[in-house]
Amino acid sequence: MKIIKVNLKENSYKIYTGHNTFRNFASYLTDLGLGNFAIAVTSKTVNSKYNALIHRALQKIEHKITVVPDGELAKSPKVFFEVANEIVSVDTWGRKIFLVTLGGGTVGDLGGFIASVYKRGAAYVQVPTTLLAQIDASIGGKTAIDLKAAKNILGTFYQPKAVFIDPLFLKTLPLNQIRQGLAEAIKYSIIRDKNLFNFLMNNRREIISLHPAAILKVIEACVQIKVDIIMKDEREKRGIRTLLNFGHTLAHAMETASKYKEISHGEAVSVGMLYASYLSYRIGLCRKNTFNQIHNILQDYGFQQATLDQPLIHKALAYDKKFTNGQPRMVLVRNIGKVTVEDNLTKNLIFKTLKEFCRKLG
Ligand SMILES: NC(=O)c1ccc[n+]([C@@H]2O[C@H](COP(=O)([O-])OP(=O)(O)OC[C@H]3O[C@@H](n4cnc5c(N)ncnc54)[C@H](O)[C@@H]3O)[C@@H](O)[C@H]2O)c1
Ligand SMILES: [Zn+2]
Repeated sequence: MKIIKVNLKENSYKIYTGHNTFRNFASYLTDLGLGNFAIAVTSKTVNSKYNALIHRALQKIEHKITVVPDGELAKSPKVFFEVANEIVSVDTWGRKIFLVTLGGGTVGDLGGFIASVYKRGAAYVQVPTTLLAQIDASIGGKTAIDLKAAKNILGTFYQPKAVFIDPLFLKTLPLNQIRQGLAEAIKYSIIRDKNLFNFLMNNRREIISLHPAAILKVIEACVQIKVDIIMKDEREKRGIRTLLNFGHTLAHAMETASKYKEISHGEAVSVGMLYASYLSYRIGLCRKNTFNQIHNILQDYGFQQATLDQPLIHKALAYDKKFTNGQPRMVLVRNIGKVTVEDNLTKNLIFKTLKEFCRKLG
């Protein structure tokens, strides 16, 4: 097992990664001393597969499992109030409540948000069970729920007391969900880690088939990158955390335009990364070879063909005013492992290069 320390002054905590980390969950929880009653928030599917394991892991502590819907529905105000009411109903005299989130990014975002506002702050621990949550959503302390008008519109920065990342959970995760995480892993490698990029290129079969050593290496490298960035810019105030948005400007525009229905996040991000790389090459920031390498890795992981959806990109342009009006802020590539934030991009340049991009690669 590896321990990755997140140093954030009074908000510091440890991330435990490794195969079978969850087996020792009970004793770690006891050591953390967060309270004497655990609310385990989990999703329907995760509960159906891991209910017995969760009970066993929490057996030394009085606890209650609260099941929320799968997917984004979990982040609705309705579910938020349902879970909050369940917590109140067991919050009797002498009990010190803390939360354990066991699930994908949706469960972590919801559980973290509730923890941040319940009695002005309850402790919580994250046990991410999707690859995306293990390398991205569970790290960094961003919590949120959705309103009809916008995703993640109600949110807080609120760090967990610990994160337990066990690849064990990935065995039951469908391949399309694994790929959602891999899009973000490719992103991390391009922004910060050429070795990880090469590892992803050279070990695709092992990684996709969740070979234990390969998948753990990817997870730990990604977690370390996100932790390094968070430690420099916990609250997104210094522009460093912005680097994590590589590929996400166009992705968000496409997702908004499609109302989150036509395209998955991973696929949108892969198109966004490819476009950002194309733009970087066109303005002379990176060499053609760098663009080609990014193109190849996305293609190898099966992203490109399925996702270069020209009508959606055009719809995104028309739809997302923030992206096309004013000066969009984008993360661009200098080299594999090195990116930069660019503020001086004109609307014309974006339009022109996006058109070219669609024509050349569509
Ligand atoms: N807080 C952050 O910094 C941050 C970062 C990135 C994404 N997010 C958020 O994360 C969410 C997406 O997270 P996600 O991709 O994990 O999706 P998700 O939470 O919707 O999980 C996907 C599906 O997989 C199921 N599942 C989870 N673990 C499983 C397992 N081990 N075996 C089988 N099925 C399993 C879930 O029940 C769900 O149906 C979005 O709401 C996004 O906004 C947050
Ligand atoms: Zn993302």
